[in-house]
Amino acid sequence: MLASEREQLKSEINEMAKKFNHHRSGLIPVLQHVQNVSRHISPEAMQDIALAFDIHPVEVQGVVSFYSFLSTEKKGKFIIRLCRTITCDMAGKDAVARQLENELDIEFGETTEDGMFTLEFTNCLGMCDQGPAMLVNDDIHTKVTPDKVVDIIESYRKRFGANVIQGEHA
Ligand code: FES
Repeated sequence: MLASEREQLKSEINEMAKKFNHHRSGLIPVLQHVQNVSRHISPEAMQDIALAFDIHPVEVQGVVSFYSFLSTEKKGKFIIRLCRTITCDMAGKDAVARQLENELDIEFGETTEDGMFTLEFTNCLGMCDQGPAMLVNDDIHTKVTPDKVVDIIESYRKRFGANVIQGEHA
C-alpha cells in the first residue's frame, strides 16, 4: 500500500471512529470498511484502528481473528464462498468445487496470483432448496453446475476488466 493510500485509510478510520464517539461499538463497521477497501486488515491498519478507539492493538487483532469475514491476508477482489453444508453437498457441491479449482487454478483457501479471486467454503446460505449455492462477494448464485461455473467466472472477469479500464485499482 502506498504511503498516500495509508494516510487516506487512516483518515477514513478516524472519521468513522469519530462518528461512533470512539466507542468500541464502531469497531466492527470500521474493520469491515478497511477489509472492503484494502481487502485485508494490515498490521498498520490495526494500529491505526487501535489508536482511533484508544484500545490495545491486541484487542483489534483478537476481533479480526474471530470473524471469518475479516482477514489479515489479502483476499481477491471477488471472494467466492461455496456452501459446504449437507443439502448443497448432496446436490453436487463437490463437482462445482472441482470446477472452480480447475477454472481458477487454485485450491480452496487460496487467491489467484492476479488478486482477482479467492476461493472459500462457507456454511448454509439459506438457499438449501436451490443448491448448490455460492456467494461471489454479495451476489448469490443458486443451482450452480460445473458448466455454470465457467460462465459465472467469465462474467466477473469481464466486470473486473471494465473496472480497470474505468480506473479502479485492482
Ligand atoms: S445447505 Fe447450502 S444453502 Fe443451505
